[in-house]
Amino acid sequence: MAQRKRIAVFASGSGSNFEAVATAAAGDADSPYEVALLVCDKPGARAIERAERLGVPVLAVRPKQYDSREAYEADVVRELRERGIDFVVLAGYMRLITATLLDAFPNRILNIHPSLLPAFPGLHAVEQALAYGAKVAGVTVHYVDGGMDSGAIIAQEAIPVRSDDTPETLFPRVQAIEHRLYPAVVRAFAENRIRLDGRRVTIEGGLRFD
Ligand code: GRF
Repeated sequence: MAQRKRIAVFASGSGSNFEAVATAAAGDADSPYEVALLVCDKPGARAIERAERLGVPVLAVRPKQYDSREAYEADVVRELRERGIDFVVLAGYMRLITATLLDAFPNRILNIHPSLLPAFPGLHAVEQALAYGAKVAGVTVHYVDGGMDSGAIIAQEAIPVRSDDTPETLFPRVQAIEHRLYPAVVRAFAENRIRLDGRRVTIEGGLRFD
C-alpha cells in the first residue's frame, strides 16, 4: 500500500467533522490518509477533547499573540512542514486563510460548509437558509481560496427543508450528511482522484461511502 497521506484538520469548535474524518481513517486498515494533527485556535474547544480521546496530536495556537495573520500562519506552516503534513482539512475553523497558508499548500486545503454554495456563505448558514425560506438545504465541500466559502466546489449533497424545521431540527440532519460526505471526499483527495480544471472539479471513480 502507498504511504498514507498525513493530514492536519483545523477546527475552532465542537470538532464533530474532525472526529468523523479521523475515525473513518482509524477504523480502516486500508485508509489512504491519517489525521496526524488537530490545529485548534480556541482554548477549551470540544475538538481538543475529541483529539485527546482519539490520540491525535494537538497544536493549540494563539493567533492573537502575533502581530499579523501572516506571522501567525507562517508559524503554523512551519509546524505543518515539520510534521510532514501533505494537505489541510478545515472543519469549523473560524478564520479566513491568507496567502501565507494558501501558497504553502496550493490547492491542498479543503473546507466543508453547511449550505449549497454559492447560497448562504459565511456564518449561520443553516439559519440563513431557513430565514430565506429555502426548500432545500445541504452541504458543500470545496477547495479553499482567499475568499469566504468561495473556492471551487468538490461535492454537494442536498436535503429537503421541512415546513416546521428550526435550526435545532435541521442542523443535525445537515451534520449527518457532513459526517458521511467529508471523510469520503478526504479519502478521494488522498487517493489523488480529484481533478481541478478552472472551477470545474471531477472525482475519478466518484465518491465511495463504504
Ligand atoms: C460544520 O457545520 C461545518 O460545515 C462548518 O462548521 C461546522 C463545524 O462543526 N464549517 P463541527 O465543529 O465539525 O461539529
